Amino acid sequence: MLPFAARCLLLLLAAAAAAAAAAADAAAAAAFELEEATVDSIRRAFADGELTSRGLVELYLSRVAALDPALHAVVELDPDGALAAADRADAARRLAYEGGGALPPPLLNGIPVLVKDNIAAAGGGGALNATCGSLALVGSRPAGDAGVVDRLRRAGAVVLGTASLSEWCNFRAPGIPAGWSPRAGQGKNPYVPSATPCASSSGSAIAAAANMVAVTIGTETDGSIMCPSSYNSVVGIKPTVGLTSRAGVIIISPRMDTVGTVSDAVHVLEAIVGYDPRDADATRMASQYIPEGGYRQFLNIDGLRGKRLGILRKDFFQFPSGSVQQKVFDEHFNTISFSPFSWFLDDAMELKIPNMNIINDAVQSGERALMLAEFKLSLNSYLSELATSPVRSLSDIIDFNNKHPVEERMAEFGQSYLLQSEATDGIGPTEKKAIAKLNKLCESGLEKIMRVNQLDAIVSPGASAHSLLAIGGYPAITVPAGYASNGVPFAICFGGLKGSEPTLIEIAYSFEQATKVRRPPTLQHFVI
Ligand SMILES: *[C@@H]1O[C@H](CO)[C@@H](O)[C@H](O)[C@H]1NC(C)=O
Repeated sequence: MLPFAARCLLLLLAAAAAAAAAAADAAAAAAFELEEATVDSIRRAFADGELTSRGLVELYLSRVAALDPALHAVVELDPDGALAAADRADAARRLAYEGGGALPPPLLNGIPVLVKDNIAAAGGGGALNATCGSLALVGSRPAGDAGVVDRLRRAGAVVLGTASLSEWCNFRAPGIPAGWSPRAGQGKNPYVPSATPCASSSGSAIAAAANMVAVTIGTETDGSIMCPSSYNSVVGIKPTVGLTSRAGVIIISPRMDTVGTVSDAVHVLEAIVGYDPRDADATRMASQYIPEGGYRQFLNIDGLRGKRLGILRKDFFQFPSGSVQQKVFDEHFNTISFSPFSWFLDDAMELKIPNMNIINDAVQSGERALMLAEFKLSLNSYLSELATSPVRSLSDIIDFNNKHPVEERMAEFGQSYLLQSEATDGIGPTEKKAIAKLNKLCESGLEKIMRVNQLDAIVSPGASAHSLLAIGGYPAITVPAGYASNGVPFAICFGGLKGSEPTLIEIAYSFEQATKVRRPPTLQHFVI
């Protein structure tokens, strides 16, 4: 998320005791209130001696212990590894300050993070299993950290544990409830327990929304960051494919998969982007987009001014008349005199993407065929790199599933995507045809609309444009936009061409600061 959004009212009274160990007595004795806390505000609290990383980790661990039995956002925790890393971060910070204004501590120094359960975190002394929600992968040991985890650790982040997801990132079989896995159970929307948390990065979004951790990392093939961010009222950044490394991550499609964030988004993005020899082609290509000086410079309160935004009204903004969504979006786009965004409207145009019905149909577009073939290749390659593992191939996993049926109410869904994927044989004529079709849909779709209209970004509600943005590896940022009449959050999404993160950050941040829609969940519906 962008600075203010996802953190919320969290009274840090309990942290005072832990902070006392390291902090100046007077400061530590005072109650520390972490309200709408961000990476910046935590860093300030560290610097002022009001909080230590160890204190913060302890606080989050007790918050997870209290909330997770109801929310099912976490798969595994590594308290010992996290506390040891927190102590190292506290020591590094003391050294940095006592060293007399030498180098400041790194960007995420001492900041706790949860990574999605498809991302390998092997280092750091802990023994987290990356399982993609599957029991078949329990006990597998990655040979090393995923590329993004390596970058997070180098930025000083403390890996607290893994966040839950839909099993196999929603790619086990159609119909399985969003946010469910045999390892973590059913993830719950913290705003409305009966509503979907959406998926597949459900745990990352729930945990960020409910303040179970400062920073969460998710992944997206097609909708898996945008949708849970939207339904849990946190900011999500789905970066251009290749901007973040997929090495050590269980992915479905190298064409579409990207690692991003569903919490303090811009700081985290800055920490995780970059070239990785283990995901060389994509990260080399995309590293040209990384701006000198990083991404935080684009947190510009006036960032919407002068931007040309294409509103995909016909395709995406279809709400029942009188609904909260319709009112909120009309306020922003239609009623100039009523809107704080008159400058936002000057250049806004109504646009239509050609072939949107095909783009939204994974079978017709070729997306499904490509995903099935790419998943097998990616998964088998990931499994072959593990130090130890009870399973070494997709075929082993299918056998495991046959021998260990999932819980009864899920059994009807089977594992048809896994079976169809196993039946593929690399990138052959079918897949090449699919790639050509997807490329054409991109060229005649988003690429053309953006170019002809000289747009800075397109605007769509929630995750509705997920396939449009997935098929070309394009970036998107979702920002909380409101709460429906039943209390379920919804978002606005800004998307653009590859490498347009600086522009999207300016637009999204400026929108967020002007609207400040995010409210933390009250959690009143949960017995905790
Ligand atoms: C990882 O899995 C092993 C079982 O093979 C288990 O003993 C260990 O506790 C797991 N790690 C965590 C952090 O839960």
